[in-house]
Amino acid sequence: MEKHNIKSVVSMLAVAMGLAAANVWAAEAPLDVKMVERGRYLSVTSGCNDCHTPGYLASDGNVPEERWLSGDTLGWRGAWGTTYASNLRLFVKDMSEDEWVSVAKTLKRRPPMPWFNLNKMEENDLRALYQFTKSLGEPGMPAPAYVPPDQEPSTPYALFPSPPAPKVPQAPQAPAAFRVN
Ligand code: HEC
Repeated sequence: MEKHNIKSVVSMLAVAMGLAAANVWAAEAPLDVKMVERGRYLSVTSGCNDCHTPGYLASDGNVPEERWLSGDTLGWRGAWGTTYASNLRLFVKDMSEDEWVSVAKTLKRRPPMPWFNLNKMEENDLRALYQFTKSLGEPGMPAPAYVPPDQEPSTPYALFPSPPAPKVPQAPQAPAAFRVN
């Protein structure tokens, strides 16, 4: 290769690297210390750690922050099958803050995820939770995959009994001809 060509290749590479760096910077806006602090508070007081941080409930919350929101291998088994609290660091890894806000406002999941509570969280609190989750560092491994009701989970699990049959007698059903559907 001629000297001239090497020079132009080098300068093109420099431009490309500069663009790549600029892109990374644009995608990962710097975290706001106050928002991160608020998110840490919400992660504790809104109960996210209870399920999404391994061992949190069983140790009275004594889990170092480096493991917070990294998902759990304890299954929650009930009529819905067996679910595992997801690794929230991975969940937001490739999501912008705005995407997280709209996802969190609308998502529905299986029990025992209290998605109906998360849907009601105010936008600024959701932004704080996002920033805190992003501040936690290495995303780590995904939680185990969902197991359908007819399959035996390979991890330990907490079993939810089916609710007892209602004591109040059910109202007699209308004759088929009068039923709406
Ligand atoms: C009682 C346990 C419990 C609590 C409390 C809880 N979660 Fe979950 N969460 C789960 C489980 C289990 C799943 C997986 C549900 C499924 O597989 O359908 C889940 C799923 C999710 C998902 C979807 C992730 C994905 O990969 O699709 C998000 C987001 C989430 N939780 C956020 C939160 C946040 C934020 C909080 C606190 C405000 C919270 N959760 C509190 C148990 C919980």
